[in-house]
Amino acid sequence: MKCIILDSNQSDGIALVDMKEPVPGPQEIKIKIQAAALNHRDQWCRQGKYPNLKNGIILGSDGSGRVVEVGEGVDSDWMGKEVLINPANNWGNQASAQAPEFSILGMPNHGTFAEYICVKTDRVHEKPGHLDAIQAAALPLAGVTAFRALVYQGKLKKEDRVLVTGFGGGVAQLAVQFALSSGAKVSVSSGEHWKLEKALGMGASAGFNYKSDWVQEAKAADGGFDLIIDSAMGNTLNDLIEVARPGGRIVVYGATLGNPGEMDARKIFWKQLCLQGSTMGSDEDFKNMLERVGQDKIAPLVDEVFTLEKAVEAFDKMKNSQQLGKLVLEMS
Ligand SMILES: NC(=O)c1ccc[n+]([C@@H]2O[C@H](COP(=O)([O-])OP(=O)(O)OC[C@H]3O[C@@H](n4cnc5c(N)ncnc54)[C@H](OP(=O)(O)O)[C@@H]3O)[C@@H](O)[C@H]2O)c1
Repeated sequence: MKCIILDSNQSDGIALVDMKEPVPGPQEIKIKIQAAALNHRDQWCRQGKYPNLKNGIILGSDGSGRVVEVGEGVDSDWMGKEVLINPANNWGNQASAQAPEFSILGMPNHGTFAEYICVKTDRVHEKPGHLDAIQAAALPLAGVTAFRALVYQGKLKKEDRVLVTGFGGGVAQLAVQFALSSGAKVSVSSGEHWKLEKALGMGASAGFNYKSDWVQEAKAADGGFDLIIDSAMGNTLNDLIEVARPGGRIVVYGATLGNPGEMDARKIFWKQLCLQGSTMGSDEDFKNMLERVGQDKIAPLVDEVFTLEKAVEAFDKMKNSQQLGKLVLEMS
């Protein structure tokens, strides 16, 4: 089967290779993957900026497809079902944080950028009926991350004024959709004017270009925010502290810009702010996310679909933040 592996010896950092099709073990099913979506994690792996990297591993955490074989102990009713995969393995029993055994599909174990994959049945859910295979592939990792950050960690209320930074991001655009569908008043930031326009068209109440002096503009427009969802971090943290309303919550699920140089610590306690981290989500978060997606007919924004042969173009587009939403690989 064709697949995309990590290969740090290539100038692109990845390679399209042929590999033997996997065989389902006990409690596993084999899925013919129709589509697989990129997450920034795949790009970090390609850049060598992720822990425990192994060359030769098939990348990709997100996938959707059809069940073509079942392993020992698996009900044959699974055969032919259209499914998507929960990429979070071994979350454990605590809702508040993942267990030490937690791992994410696609590194260190083979992932979804392949024509076939075998996974345990408890990682598999039927595809929501209103999504096609491409949209379904774009949902899992970004969806559960956005949902937990907003709902479990962010304690989203419908009267909240919410700011989601970097609207063009795969997680961010879903966070905006979940927050809007909860009835909250949602603002966004982005580095691109056309992405802000898109967010306004979807129901956001204001958009700020983070490449300009946006902080005063944001405070003036909305008086600040009760809940801020961010994955850029770096020195932008002080801007977020500034635009948070007293008693506000800042939930961070990434640090694309790295660590902050200096943090305005005094404002955190004076404004009674909560600075909260969030990572992906538990099986319960995933189930709740899928339920909400089904109820409110939420569909991830898909920026562009590529073949496996054009995977490098998809990775480069993500590296340069040129996308709005998800970049998806479609298997032929
Ligand atoms: N903890 C977790 O479980 C988890 C899960 C998923 C992702 N992450 C992390 O979260 C980050 C985003 O992931 P993703 O998959 O959504 O990536 P992505 O689709 O590549 O999106 C990244 C977005 O970051 C935005 N951005 C860049 N510079 C910014 C700035 N100065 N201020 C605000 N936004 C800025 C850009 O938004 P515009 O295009 O609008 O300018 C860009 O599109 C990555 O660091 C990733 O590793 C963590």
